[in-house]
Amino acid sequence: MQKASNHILIIFGASGDLTRRKLIPALRELQKLDLLPEKFAVLGIGRSKYSDQTYREMIAEHLEEPGEMLPLLHYLSMDPEDEGSYDNLASQLDEMSSSMEMVPNYIFYLATPPSLYGIIPLFLSSVGLTKEGEDVWRRIIIEKPFGTDYQSAHQLNKSLLKYLKEDQIYRIDHYLGKETVQNVLVTRFSNGIFEPLWNRNFVHHVEITAAESIGVGTRGGYYNDSGALRDMLQNHLMQLVGLVAMEPPTVINSDAIRNEVLKVFQSIRPITGDDIPKQVIRGQYVASHIRGDSMTGYRDEEGVPEESRTETFVAMKFFIDNWRWGGVPFYIRTGKRLPTRVSEIVVHFNPSPHTLFSTSNGDEDKGNKLVIRIQPDEGILLKFGMKVQGAGFKVQEVNMDFHYKDLTDSYIPEAYQRLLLDCMQGDSTLYARGDAVEAAWRFVDPILKAWKEDQGIPLHGYPCGTWGPEVADQMIEGEKYAWRCPCKNLADDGIYCEL
Ligand code: NDP
Ligand code: BG6
Repeated sequence: MQKASNHILIIFGASGDLTRRKLIPALRELQKLDLLPEKFAVLGIGRSKYSDQTYREMIAEHLEEPGEMLPLLHYLSMDPEDEGSYDNLASQLDEMSSSMEMVPNYIFYLATPPSLYGIIPLFLSSVGLTKEGEDVWRRIIIEKPFGTDYQSAHQLNKSLLKYLKEDQIYRIDHYLGKETVQNVLVTRFSNGIFEPLWNRNFVHHVEITAAESIGVGTRGGYYNDSGALRDMLQNHLMQLVGLVAMEPPTVINSDAIRNEVLKVFQSIRPITGDDIPKQVIRGQYVASHIRGDSMTGYRDEEGVPEESRTETFVAMKFFIDNWRWGGVPFYIRTGKRLPTRVSEIVVHFNPSPHTLFSTSNGDEDKGNKLVIRIQPDEGILLKFGMKVQGAGFKVQEVNMDFHYKDLTDSYIPEAYQRLLLDCMQGDSTLYARGDAVEAAWRFVDPILKAWKEDQGIPLHGYPCGTWGPEVADQMIEGEKYAWRCPCKNLADDGIYCEL
């Protein structure tokens, strides 16, 4: 793989959790793979007081094998809200790039509270740090959440575009950095067998799950203002929908792919009015017992108000109004404290039009299923009918499965590793574009508004370790189908709980 050109990565929020846990370890992996540029340095920024040395010591405590990483780390103590300190930042960067004898290419990574996402680019531009030259590039990576609703996301885009061009802005959605998410494109567009079936003539419905077994842990303060709809559905699940439902791009490049994703978001039929309680189910985990162990309910978590009505689970049914998907329901769900951590896409194909054989368990033929497993036990599973050996013509459902772990030399890189590398190389394909982020907010906004204003829309409690409120099951069962209940292993489904 080609190395990126020399540059300095400036991380705002360098004393924080994301930097310690994800960003520096991802850089270390890139270094091990010899993918960092020849000349490269990190300048961490935060209000906390560290010297280069003490910052390196702090990071070393969180890195399994710091190796050659530490000498690349530098630290500048400054308050990103203090406009006056940006001159000093500019001089420090000048000095660093001169002493490294390299072109002053910079990536600014905003890993601060989101309230600073508008301010930092403004102050950077006021001292000329966002200005590109003929051979000089300047990029900015923005962490999630990108806005809290359509209006705030729109405002943030507008203000960023005052100081930067769209191609300088990299909006993180770490799901897009997952190898298995990118593989959705490869599965669909590099295999002649799937694409002809990938439409309303053959697909009965599509199901997407992103489940977590953990609760909100210590993030209650953040989560309570967010909830599952904003935290997971508006971004990660919507991006999955985009990749599953998009038209083939004309070429594989960032504009072509992101144009198609945008069209999907624009074609999703809005859910409004009386349809909201029917098509969108929200839930909150409640205190419960699993095998004798008591599990804390959401309202008793640290930082969560006792009366909180924030959803920790959301399930939704919607339609995409275009030629490919007209009439095909999409069911998506996400939640915390569910039985296991699993993300997967299930494409349910239509059953055969004329039933010749009965199934071995007496069930109705529900059609073939293609399961694309994002995590864990990453892989692909096809479920189809096979004759039961012996007399008669009974059919049983069998699995044909591929697991990444069975590939020799397989190694699934961390999402942040891929995303950082792509930004270093100037490739924004796996980053969300401003217009698509806004379109995704446009879709969820009426739901957020209705939930806020109409207290009559129920928030269902669900015990920890279950697949959310029963009404979410009814939403799909009413149509004679059922959610797949995935287990840790790709090929298994059914009753299972790892909590
Ligand atoms: P932390 O609170 O751990 O770190 C944020 C850092 O920002 C702090 O260390 C703080 O450092 C710095 N900071 C600068 N200005 C301010 C300010 N005015 N108020 C508070 N802090 C300030 O957060 P995370 O590292 O967890 O998250 C950073 C961003 O990344 C957030 O927007 C979050 O939503 C996003 N994110 C985080 C994920 C994670 O796994 N942690 C996952 C996905 C997104 P100092 O006090 O030294 O200035
Ligand atoms: C983050 C959410 O974006 O994604 C978290 O803020 C969630 O609440 C996390 O836990 C899930 O990511 P992953 O990669 O573990 O599926």
